[in-house]
Amino acid sequence: MKSSKISGFYKMNIDERISLVKEFAGLTYEESALLKNTGSLNRETANRMIENVIGIMPITLGIAVNFQINGTDYLIPMAIEEASVVAAASFAAKIARDGGGFEASATEPVMIGQVQITNIPNPKEAEKRILEKKKEIIDKLNEKDPALLVKYGGGVRDIKTNILKTERGTMLIVQLLVDVRDAMGANAINTISEKVAKELEEITGGKVRLRIISNLAIHRLSKARARFPKEIIGEDAVEGILDAYEFAAHDAFRCATHNKGIMNGVSAVALATGNDFRAMEAGAHSYATYKGKGKYSPLTKYWKDEKGDLWGEIEIPTAIGIIGGITKAHPIAKINLKILGVKTAQELGMVMASVGLAQNFAALRALATEGIQRGHMNLHAKNIAMTAGAKGDEVDKVAQKLIEEKNIRMDRAKEIIEELRK
Ligand code: MEV
Repeated sequence: MKSSKISGFYKMNIDERISLVKEFAGLTYEESALLKNTGSLNRETANRMIENVIGIMPITLGIAVNFQINGTDYLIPMAIEEASVVAAASFAAKIARDGGGFEASATEPVMIGQVQITNIPNPKEAEKRILEKKKEIIDKLNEKDPALLVKYGGGVRDIKTNILKTERGTMLIVQLLVDVRDAMGANAINTISEKVAKELEEITGGKVRLRIISNLAIHRLSKARARFPKEIIGEDAVEGILDAYEFAAHDAFRCATHNKGIMNGVSAVALATGNDFRAMEAGAHSYATYKGKGKYSPLTKYWKDEKGDLWGEIEIPTAIGIIGGITKAHPIAKINLKILGVKTAQELGMVMASVGLAQNFAALRALATEGIQRGHMNLHAKNIAMTAGAKGDEVDKVAQKLIEEKNIRMDRAKEIIEELRK
């Protein structure tokens, strides 16, 4: 019987791992050869990035065009598997450009570390003692600078506390507010949180458990806004988008999809630049509830000005970096950052916020007017044509015919290919 209990898998080299998996899953020679092809990410780098590597999972990389943010033009790399996203962002950016471009801003890059202290004899008193010693704790941490932030202009900025009454007793949570500059900051925050734990135990007489970053990065926000002129999109689209926004603002089921569309753009830029898109997703969705004071809310908002033009605005936490992690170790992430030309993590945050707004605008415009299926169907038809075996010029011809016949199916695509080749 096949067993997945394998000891020392991590010690094998990539080829050995592939052989084992090949045997286990009955892969063909061609399939295992494909796994061995790691393209632009050399095998050594890949093998060092995570554990138990057998290959890479390529994802399409597109460039969103037309973006002008704070007067600067950007070409924006987006790594995403979903068709229509890059085209939609570019389309919206063109309209926003005609409206004067995106205006964006970002707060200082301050992230939160949390230290959980349990079993404290007197939590209120302990909290008071920590706050009294706050300056001393901060100064000591910055002096030691365990995460090497101070020399780049960052460092611990503040300490906050809150008391949690839980099923397992009262806990004191210490929040460390740390300026992480151009790093995403997870490593820095976790290092500092672990470093300060012993002192917090001494001050409180309690037991420290968790010491970890919070992905609800409420102090590290990026904002963008844009005007979408009525003359370009039409009055009906303005009204439709306002209606769509209200729908999301009042209905969590719609709001989830509204925000998902925003993250289509934001996470694609995060992935392209080697950032932790799961951290971005967690931050954005939890912020959507935090900002709504407990109610899950849209990350964007829309309004109409006195001329009847539509304005959109977004505010999202942007826990992303341009140094550290794989941003510089991954060759394609490195190229993508060069294409973007951003100088700071804050600038990257502003780009992401603008892409998120563009993505949301494009989705709402399509949904509130013609619907999104038409655009999707074109790409879907091309995908079906290619999967059915169409090559070169055939792809467009087959897709066109499938759409005309309103019959986008694999068996029909195969027939059309045969007809074309006769
Ligand atoms: C699909 O990936 C994203 C949309 O559903 C977003 C939305 O509904 O706003 C189109």
